[in-house]
This record gives sequence, structure tokens and C-alpha cells, in this order.
Amino acid sequence: MAFKSLGPAPAASPTPAWVVVSYDKTGRANAMTAAWGGIVNSNPPSVAVAVQPIRYSYENIIERRAFTVCIPSEKFAKETDYFGLASGKDEDKIAKAGLTAGRAEKVNAPYIKEFPMYLECKLTDRMNLGSHFVLIGQIVDVKADEEILDHKDSIEIQKLKPIVYSPTDRSYYGVGDEIGKAFSIGKEIKDEKE
Ligand SMILES: Cc1cc2nc3c(=O)[nH]c(=O)nc-3n(C[C@H](O)[C@H](O)[C@H](O)COP(=O)(O)O)c2cc1C
Repeated sequence: MAFKSLGPAPAASPTPAWVVVSYDKTGRANAMTAAWGGIVNSNPPSVAVAVQPIRYSYENIIERRAFTVCIPSEKFAKETDYFGLASGKDEDKIAKAGLTAGRAEKVNAPYIKEFPMYLECKLTDRMNLGSHFVLIGQIVDVKADEEILDHKDSIEIQKLKPIVYSPTDRSYYGVGDEIGKAFSIGKEIKDEKE
């Protein structure tokens, strides 16, 4: 391999393509796309999403101390991109996209009914990193469409069909085939005799 330096860049690829949904001051549901995010704690289960303070969603999330992370499936790639192009300051994005919002059960935030799963999050912390604030959300409940669950209630990624985002070429992708079981396929090496 011949490594080339590309300089400092937010270039870990892929990232999720999530839709963060919150209520504005008037109680209208608003959605924004977020690629800077991930799971950051197991107990209590927590998620981090990095949101620029100039986003309409930012103040809304701070005010309600709640948001949902809605996970779009591939067929909603266009809507997901649109949620990242327009601002809820100017238009009712969810309605314009032809989607509908429901009220989350356990937090003061809406979710998108057409997406196959979402995380109900309570804002617990925030940290200023420069361009973005990292918002930490404690996941108080996970909702998943029964259609994407196996018989053990595990989410089947092939049915969820999440979108992943590649920040280096600014494109969306689907996920591929399973390549192995975690905490398992590595045992072949771990158990090898020296
Ligand atoms: C693929 C993609 C990923 C994005 N990721 C983020 C992100 O992680 N954080 C952020 O603050 N904005 C991100 N944006 C931009 C916001 O989604 C965009 O500014 C949006 O208009 C904000 O909506 P709002 O003003 O209604 O809150 C992303 C946009 C796209 C298209």
C-alpha cells in the first residue's frame, strides 16, 4: 500500500444518514439530516449527533430537551437529502416531502411515521467542538416496524435497508451482505496456537 496524506478532514467513511426530528416553538415537527453521529454509550444507551447552532433544529432541540433519530430506508434517500437542503425556518419540510409526523411516546419530540425505525431521545448533555455542538441523547425507547424484526425481535439490517453516507464523495449508499458474526469470526485467530 502507498498511503497518501489527505490532511485533516471529517473523513471516516461511511457515516449514518440520519434524520433528526424535533418540535419547533409553534409545535410543528421539523426534520434535519445528520451524518455526524453515532452510538456513544451502552448503559444508559446514548447517541451523539453533531448539530451546528445555526440550524433551526438546534434551538428547538435545546428548548424541548428531546429529539428522535429517525432511520430512513433506501427508498427515502431523496427525502433524506431534501431534509438536509432546506430549513424548517422557511418551510414545513415534512409536509412538503409528503411524509407524516407522529408524537413520540416517551419524549417531547415527533417522529416520521413512514421510516422503519426511530430512537426516542432525551437531551442529556451538549459540548461545543467548534463548528458543531455535540448533542447527547439518552435513548429512552427504540421503535421498530415489526416488518423489519426477526423472530427474536432483532432488527434485520437487510430489511431496514439503512442509508449510509460517504462524506468524501458526498454520496449515499446502501448496505451490502453480511460478512460474518461479530464476537465470533475472530475466535479462529484468537484460539490459534502460537
Ligand atoms: C448528507 C447530509 C448530512 C448532514 N449532516 C449534518 C450534521 O451532521 N450536522 C448538521 O448540523 N448539519 C448537517 N447537515 C445539514 C443540515 O441537515 C441542513 O443545514 C438542514 O437544512 C438543517 O435543517 P433545519 O434548519 O431545519 O434544522 C447535513 C446535510 C446533508 C445533506
